[in-house]
Amino acid sequence: GRDEMVRRVERVLGEVSLEGFENRTPATLSGGQKQRLAIASVLAIEPRILCLDEPTTDLDPIGKLGIFEIAEDLKDRDDVTLIVVEHETEETLDADRIIVLREGKIVADRPAREVLRDVELLQESSVMPLQVTRYFHEKGLWQGQLPLTPEEGVAEFKRRGWRVSPDRHRELVEADGSREEGYGEPVIEVDGLTHRYPNGLVALDGVDLTVRRGEFLAILGQNGSGKTTLVKHFNGLLKPTEGTVLAGGEKTTEQGLRRLGQTVGYVFQNPDHQIFSDTVSDEVAFGPKIRGMKEDEIEERVDEALAAVSLEGRGDEDPFGLTKGERQRVAVASVLAVRPEVLILDEPTTGLDYAEQRSMMDLVRSLNEAGSTIIAVTHTMWVVAEYAHRAAVVREGRIALQGTVREVFAEEDELRDASLRPPHIVSFGNALGYPVLSVEEMLRVTEEEG
Ligand SMILES: Nc1ncnc2c1ncn2[C@@H]1O[C@H](COP(=O)(O)OP(=O)(O)O)[C@@H](O)[C@H]1O
Ligand SMILES: [Mg+2]
Repeated sequence: GRDEMVRRVERVLGEVSLEGFENRTPATLSGGQKQRLAIASVLAIEPRILCLDEPTTDLDPIGKLGIFEIAEDLKDRDDVTLIVVEHETEETLDADRIIVLREGKIVADRPAREVLRDVELLQESSVMPLQVTRYFHEKGLWQGQLPLTPEEGVAEFKRRGWRVSPDRHRELVEADGSREEGYGEPVIEVDGLTHRYPNGLVALDGVDLTVRRGEFLAILGQNGSGKTTLVKHFNGLLKPTEGTVLAGGEKTTEQGLRRLGQTVGYVFQNPDHQIFSDTVSDEVAFGPKIRGMKEDEIEERVDEALAAVSLEGRGDEDPFGLTKGERQRVAVASVLAVRPEVLILDEPTTGLDYAEQRSMMDLVRSLNEAGSTIIAVTHTMWVVAEYAHRAAVVREGRIALQGTVREVFAEEDELRDASLRPPHIVSFGNALGYPVLSVEEMLRVTEEEG
């Protein structure tokens, strides 16, 4: 009856920490809150088995933790079986049992900690192994001894009497420094930028930021912190309420969108908000076409852009028949065809699996190496560590932290305040007093004897 229903709704909203939100329109909830609401609506049916299919892909790192805390609470209720589909290995540490699938076949079905120690099996299955585990695997520990978390890793590192070579670590920091010196002139200059949306919400509040030619900058921050609002000012999609934004040395408000698009290209957060043509090549040709280029010039640019995103020969296909990863590539190609100096990618890896994330970011890296300035909005932290060189953290409409990725990732407390967590290998290095960005860097600086 109705009373029972009201009781259940109250209980499940409590279980997902949404009490007090009973009368909110779902559309006004944040990404994490919507995800909790979806879980609550399933819980209300009181199923015996609850299946969450990649429940956290669109959430920032702390939002992810919230979902896994709910999962953890449910796990302790012995009347509910919880099945979570996930490709981020760091998120699976709390599971009891892990099943690994490869091409439709089960290749492992064992207790979680055993599977997580099987680095080779995970790699062969295109699953990213835990970083601390892979580090010790590369150092030759046998499987049964492998630590899983940064804390376990630090204990094992100290127990073995290993240390970090200060000289080799200094070389990493010096390499960061010479990269910084190699950047060109400022290409985006943001000064005192405030943005108030028509409903009165102040999404940016006095932002100063300079981006130089050749940088690969990651813009980080919690869902709703203002990242998209910020980068939409760079190519004139939004206008400052206060302050100025210069692109290529000129105010964005004093350049036509078409000319501005020649300096700054923006790939939308969701490629489906950008793609509108019936074929891949029409989509990619759009930018050159509206700039009045000749037929053969357009064709050359379309071919070049499709080759850059590994979609050569796919021009006649319907974009909506492609996978999410491929549509993402079409969106990138359509911006590349204009050959802008600066390429902005808004969450380029969201919703992609590990292999697709890698190939998207390898593509972006090769564009950066070929001279493009890259600005990537993301909360996939290993992507930042392995691909970006500078980072700016947005928190409640302000820049809370900026610098080289190594400098920014060393500030774990400030990152946590912005709902961010660095990848495991970074936390491992930080705990030893030496910020590293990858397993390879950690291997390079390790000394087994003093
Ligand atoms: N068109 C809009 N009208 C009103 N508020 C908006 C609009 N777009 C975004 N916001 C709000 O502005 C804030 C920043 O949003 P956004 O820049 O999209 O954040 P992020 O990209 O970091 O997730 C959020 O509180 C969001 O709800
Ligand atoms: Mg956004």
